[in-house]
Amino acid sequence: MSAVDLGIPRLRVTAPSADRPDSPLLLDRFGRVATDLRVSLTDRCNLRCTYCMPAAGLDWMPRAEMLSDAEIGAVLRVAVRELGVTSVRFTGGEPTLRKGIEQIIADTAALAPRPRISMTTNAIGLARRAAALADAGVDRINVSLDTLRRDRFSELTRRDRLEDVLAGLAAARDAGLNPVKVNAVLVRGRNDDEAVPLLRYCLDNGYHLRFIEQMPLDAQHGWNRADMVTAAEILSQLRKAFDLTPSPTPRGAAPAERWLVDGGPAEVGVIASVTRPFCGDCDRTRLTADGQLRSCLFSQTETDLRGPLRAGADDGEIAELWRAAMWAKLAGHTINEAGFAQPLRPMSAIGG
Ligand code: 5AD
Ligand code: SF4
Repeated sequence: MSAVDLGIPRLRVTAPSADRPDSPLLLDRFGRVATDLRVSLTDRCNLRCTYCMPAAGLDWMPRAEMLSDAEIGAVLRVAVRELGVTSVRFTGGEPTLRKGIEQIIADTAALAPRPRISMTTNAIGLARRAAALADAGVDRINVSLDTLRRDRFSELTRRDRLEDVLAGLAAARDAGLNPVKVNAVLVRGRNDDEAVPLLRYCLDNGYHLRFIEQMPLDAQHGWNRADMVTAAEILSQLRKAFDLTPSPTPRGAAPAERWLVDGGPAEVGVIASVTRPFCGDCDRTRLTADGQLRSCLFSQTETDLRGPLRAGADDGEIAELWRAAMWAKLAGHTINEAGFAQPLRPMSAIGG
């Protein structure tokens, strides 16, 4: 059967940059190779963390602008089969709010070679769904948890859901999504005295805790450096209660610097995105829920894949757009330089 010609012009893919090596992989000019894809499945969230979005939420993406499940499947196929992506992380907003996430995950797990599959979630509702997600193919999970105190959780996330999150964490562990990682952001004057209790809780429950320095990615543009709880502060708090020694396992492209706790084997990580950037080792490429490629969390430009996909671009054309986008990746973020401008998209619409 021949295709009906709807008069849509055939996509013309830009010529490969003259200085880019002839490689199928996602290379950039600084010698990095992106193999870790972050896919934001929705910009919606059922929490309202104060460092992320305003109480009223945001103007969510209209449905028609979001990639369909089939379009996500097509992009993932290109990433894994053409571009050497070996690991896929589903993020949001809150990825479990995406209807059909289990099928998206199962389709990802059916790709060859099968990528590693992980998810970053706030764990609301995970108690009921962890087993199904694991069955679908999720290998590992990261859960955001900033406080163990119910009143503070309600203040920080504007929802009284601490118990759901703790139950979700336990369900993830019981479903075999190990190691379960916990991401914690400390906010000055709110939960900045909880480094030690959070680590104790995670040690007791077998979760791997990582603290993340707060980054200027909030929708309200309210971040300021003086309020940021730094990696150095977090480590000095932890050292009052624990003996920390550098982890012997190599860091590779992982953002967390890791320490053995009291001689190990348990570890704690600190992701010092602002005070000790790790951009030089970055192996990430990102896709937003509306089909835009970002080479960095802090990118000021995006590469549209949705338009080309909907105009009938084939896998080779999508792959070539992606290679060109990554070849244009900058050396790193410029948070610590004069004139830094926060990206237009907030964290909740990019994915962690
Ligand atoms: N800075 C640092 N971490 C953030 N997160 C959300 N917003 C920020 C920010 N501005 C965290 C969430 C979650 C992960 C996706 O990133 O707490 O754990
Ligand atoms: Fe939701 Fe995550 Fe933003 Fe909190 S930080 S509001 S859990 S997207």
